[in-house]
Amino acid sequence: MSRAARFVLPLVVVLGLMAWIASLVANSVTRRWFEKDVQVRAHGAFAVSRQAVIHHWRSGRRQAVGRIFEGMAHDRLFLAVAACSRDGTPVARSPRTPAQLTCRKLATMAGVPRPADEAAWRAWTRAVAVHEGNVDLTILPLRDRGQTLGMVAFVHDMSFAAEREAATESFYLAAFAILALAAAGFTVLVGTLSERRWITQVRGLLRGDPVDGAAGFGPIVRDFRELVARVQAEAESAGGAGAWTPERLRQLVGRHLSGEKIIIVANREPYIHERGAGGEIEVLHPASGLVTALEPIMRACSGVWVGHGSGSADRETADSQGRVAVPPGEESYAIRRVWLGPDEERGYYEGFANEGLWPLCHIAHTRPIFRGEDWMHYQRVNRKFAAAACAEATSDEPIVFVQDYHFALVPRLVRAREPRATVLAFWHIPWPNSEHFGICPLRYEIMEGLLGSSILGFQTQLHCNNFLDAVDRYMEARIDRERQAVVYQGRVTLVRPYPISVEWPIRWVQAVPSVDECRREVLGELGLPPDAILGLGVDRLDYTKGIEERLRAVERLLERFPALRGRFTFVQIAAPSRTPIERYRELRRQVEALAASINARFGSGSWHPVVLRCEHHEPPRVFRHYRAADLCYVSSLHDGMNLVAKEFVAARDDERGVLILSHFTGAARELTEALVVNPYDLEQASAALAAAIAMPADEQAERMRSMRAFLADFNVYRWAGRILVDAARLRQRYRFSSSALERASVR
Ligand code: G6P
Repeated sequence: MSRAARFVLPLVVVLGLMAWIASLVANSVTRRWFEKDVQVRAHGAFAVSRQAVIHHWRSGRRQAVGRIFEGMAHDRLFLAVAACSRDGTPVARSPRTPAQLTCRKLATMAGVPRPADEAAWRAWTRAVAVHEGNVDLTILPLRDRGQTLGMVAFVHDMSFAAEREAATESFYLAAFAILALAAAGFTVLVGTLSERRWITQVRGLLRGDPVDGAAGFGPIVRDFRELVARVQAEAESAGGAGAWTPERLRQLVGRHLSGEKIIIVANREPYIHERGAGGEIEVLHPASGLVTALEPIMRACSGVWVGHGSGSADRETADSQGRVAVPPGEESYAIRRVWLGPDEERGYYEGFANEGLWPLCHIAHTRPIFRGEDWMHYQRVNRKFAAAACAEATSDEPIVFVQDYHFALVPRLVRAREPRATVLAFWHIPWPNSEHFGICPLRYEIMEGLLGSSILGFQTQLHCNNFLDAVDRYMEARIDRERQAVVYQGRVTLVRPYPISVEWPIRWVQAVPSVDECRREVLGELGLPPDAILGLGVDRLDYTKGIEERLRAVERLLERFPALRGRFTFVQIAAPSRTPIERYRELRRQVEALAASINARFGSGSWHPVVLRCEHHEPPRVFRHYRAADLCYVSSLHDGMNLVAKEFVAARDDERGVLILSHFTGAARELTEALVVNPYDLEQASAALAAAIAMPADEQAERMRSMRAFLADFNVYRWAGRILVDAARLRQRYRFSSSALERASVR
């Protein structure tokens, strides 16, 4: 046998053995994952239909229960779904339920074989998983108001797992075979090369040492390193492993963006200095979803927030450049305040932004108004902010992150001043369909301004599609559907959905007392007894939030369920907003009149069903209310995301409380365990309020747990991380292409 064969054969045998062991280990791990997955799926399906099943079960409508099961069993993972009552009689079974799966057998598997064994039924609260060959079972107790009615069994067809295991096995064996051959070949080659003393030369080539005048492999190695960095960045953008934290975001900026500082341009500043009635200076946190989301990002990454200095004591607390270090007492970034005159504020902020673009982008039945003078101020103020952002740049490749509809023109203006800048823009509110957007007389200028950005983000894919359709319809630009990008005047803007979120864990929860304490305090303030049922709404006083529809749903609830009169109180926190605008003042009058009429109709003695608090509440007070409430109703008529919904979930570390959420919010696509309603449908909304009030504690916990797990995973650090990783990738691509161009021009 040759020397090479003597070495290669044992190597192939050892690697083959390793392949076999690895495939066994992988199969057992993945099998456990699959089993866990189908159980989670069963829990999810059970949670969604539980209320309906109980309702039909209790009213003796077995066929209706059967129809629900039949619907569930269309899912490829469920072979069948069956239910049995405690006494062992079948209640419903989907068509493919195996005949041998009798109620008696199921009860034995679940450990409750005897109907009379009251204690055993009461003690059974957790799902039981049973594995039998290619079939798995998840058996769950069906409990309602402290009583166990019976059980529901999900039969999972696990043959798909067996198919996947077989595929994994073949894959492992093939991969190891190739690896074995490659390793053997490489070893023989290296042996031969080293014998001929070539290895020194190869090392030299890899280092980039010139050989006979040629450049060596140095550039290839460099490209390879860059490729690895890119693959890493892609993995990060997909979520990577582990939780997203401020630290991880900081590291990401350090690693992929060379620690470049981030310049945010956002109209509303995160800290407003106001002079109080007694002459003292107060620091206020504005009621703004945008600020809620972005402030933790700035704490994590540091940098500058270029915003409108709107507080009465803002000037005296800032330096001559309008700069002030924040957060007060824990300074880690700066606000650069831009000062606006009264005409500018009226034209740009109240006029074009909030009487024009805001109603244009929200389907909430308020007509947009576009005045020529407002547009002039909007352009002027956008130029002012773009100049301030560029003045903050400390390199020729700054990262400028432009926020919202106040600054549609800033991306293009920054690009004109700083051609190498990475300009990111995020549109926090909805983008309407192209026909609707077409009513804006300045539609072309708005879109052209936004197309100055490298990446333009929206809350949902639908808003991205609407934007692309509008570009397609009104501009001379090319849409690259594959890359989801617009190519305009030779420049590319990626258009991507990045659903925004809240920090996790949320800072304000640590600053407030326990749930019991909050409840005692809030009920005490309201003069309500400890067993009162408390509903909550928290918003800016804005016509897009559906506050009138919400109060009407409360009114309908009290009409339909007289037993709740005197027991249920709905507190509406409504922060006054954009008060110089007549439509907002009119809304306040309407909401106040409606609350008064409901109170006059149903109130008695000291009990008022609606408590309307039209004043600004600082976050700790808002969070006390979140923690005290039994339910929170978010009834927006149209909303990009709505972070009140996410804040309520983040506040409930006790896993109690029910979220009722308008279907017309971006959040409804993510928080699917909320009771999702159409706020215009008062029958449905009032029924959801009633269902929330009656919801058993274990169901509340199940829904809350699932939403909290989602938010822990998809928090605002991940949101920013995804955008910044995409930005890093673009910067790298730009560098690659510009260095290639430079090389080409040198030659
Ligand atoms: C919405 C907008 C934000 C804005 C917030 C508060 O969430 O998307 O940009 O900051 O409303 O409105 P205000 O006019 O008070 O800043």
